[in-house]
Amino acid sequence: MKFLILALCIVAAMADPHWIMLDNDAVDHVKSSWKKVSHDEVDILAAVFKDHPDIQAKFPKFAGKDLESIKGTAAFATHAGRIVGFFGEYVALLGSEANQPAIKSLLHNLGTSHKGRGVVASQFSGFRDSMTNYLKAYSNWNADVSDSWDDAFDKAYAVIFETL
Ligand code: HEM
Repeated sequence: MKFLILALCIVAAMADPHWIMLDNDAVDHVKSSWKKVSHDEVDILAAVFKDHPDIQAKFPKFAGKDLESIKGTAAFATHAGRIVGFFGEYVALLGSEANQPAIKSLLHNLGTSHKGRGVVASQFSGFRDSMTNYLKAYSNWNADVSDSWDDAFDKAYAVIFETL
């Protein structure tokens, strides 16, 4: 009977379209690769802005400015720390069922705050492409790590895009 209830709970949870669980190996791949770049906040945000001037243009402090001239500023470091640091929070929460509500509200709040700024899904996708390329270049990247990040992004973006 206990087994049946447990099985029903698992089935119900997996039917939830916002179930942000990766398998254990994927969690390990995401966490280990993130560790390699987690202090590169400034370089990651700079890579995003370089690839996508339309994303930079959304930032009131940086719109229309030369990337090289803003990259070394304290304001840039603060923004990069907040934005890229978000992934640190997300990655840290992955891997535990108990963290599901926290993960969902983190992602939902990000979607809500960015909807208010007029950010669109294609810009989030551009951000993802640049970040993935950065990870590819500077982490322990391989086919498994790549699949794991795809899963981590797909699941996170499903929640964010529903809010946008
Ligand atoms: C997965 C991708 C992204 C993450 C994790 C992220 C994260 C964040 C975080 C944590 C903040 C500060 C807290 C908040 O206001 O919500 C923020 C602010 C902001 N984000 Fe994002 N963001 C992402 C993508 C984007 C994109 C694609 C754009 C623009 C096209 C954008 C534009 C902004 C702007 C304009 C702010 C406010 C900056 C200010 O305070 O002057 N973000 N973002």
